[in-house]
Amino acid sequence: MDVNLDVAKEKLIERGFLDIEVDPSMDIFAEIERLKKEKNAIILAHYYQEPDIQDIADYIGDSLGLAQMAEKTDADMIVFAGVHFMAETAKILNPGKKVLLPDLNAGCSLSDSCPPALFKLFKEKHPDHIVISYINCSAGIKALSDIICTSSNAKAIVDSLPKEQKIIFAPDKNLGAYINKTSGRNMVLWNGACMVHEIFSLEKITRLKERHPEAKLIAHPECEEPVLRIADFIGSTTQLLKYTQENDSKSFIVATEAGILHQMMQKSPDKIFIAAPPDNACACNDCPHMKLNTLEKLYLCIKYELPEILMPEDVRLAAKKPIDRMLEMSKQLGII
Ligand code: 13P
Ligand code: SF4
Repeated sequence: MDVNLDVAKEKLIERGFLDIEVDPSMDIFAEIERLKKEKNAIILAHYYQEPDIQDIADYIGDSLGLAQMAEKTDADMIVFAGVHFMAETAKILNPGKKVLLPDLNAGCSLSDSCPPALFKLFKEKHPDHIVISYINCSAGIKALSDIICTSSNAKAIVDSLPKEQKIIFAPDKNLGAYINKTSGRNMVLWNGACMVHEIFSLEKITRLKERHPEAKLIAHPECEEPVLRIADFIGSTTQLLKYTQENDSKSFIVATEAGILHQMMQKSPDKIFIAAPPDNACACNDCPHMKLNTLEKLYLCIKYELPEILMPEDVRLAAKKPIDRMLEMSKQLGII
């Protein structure tokens, strides 16, 4: 039996997320579908979510696709199966809608590597630079930025700016270095990184490539330079997925969070996907933040309409400007 709303709220306040037992005999998929209709809710999910969540989502995408979807949905409630900065972006674009995140503790190491107070000081040291921030950052960092980008549009956005424009790129130093290299820029980089993409083992990947010479190595630009250097293709999660569908190769070594393999296998059941190994005892590489969301928490979240994403209106308005700029530029550049 589910508990009542007061108990749920109490647990939420106490523990920061809904951790209530769900009746195991209940058809949780059917219940989520029913609640979704009753509340006019939409479930947006990132590719790194567990397969069950991907299967019940109304839309699965990369950060750019998810931001676009959040901007255009006419649902009253957005249940965001992703991490905090993604749900926050949805709220920034939709102040009138209820935006929920199944587990409020689903943060992001990359976003955490860039605290707004320190970044403000860093920005003050470069007064003639504009700030381009990767969407994987807090609303506080977005509010200090001129343009937001994602891994789908970062290079095109940077390339569209005059060569003499001085730029600070935050928070991901690996994506920033990749754009510096491919665009011939010299952007000042904030020293942040994603714990999931930094832990790939070059040695193990090289050995895998030797064992599977026919396989294409595909990598997310959050990976470190030595991995990117040996990759056959580099792109956002959506771009990686598309590549596996369109490329003639029958096998792929995938250097990004392992959740994406679910879509890759569904879209190309005849192909082989090998998760690139991290530099630890595990065979594949999960994001501990993304994987905090579970189907049970998703159900509780939509049922009790908690935990909700809220933020001060002045921060929301300041953070919205660079996101709007990204969406406008992406339209002008023909990316969306
Ligand atoms: P994209 O889905 O935009 O490629 O981002 C990957 C990621 O690390 C999200 O946390
Ligand atoms: Fe953050 Fe990395 Fe997890 Fe994405 S995969 S949410 S960038 S820690």
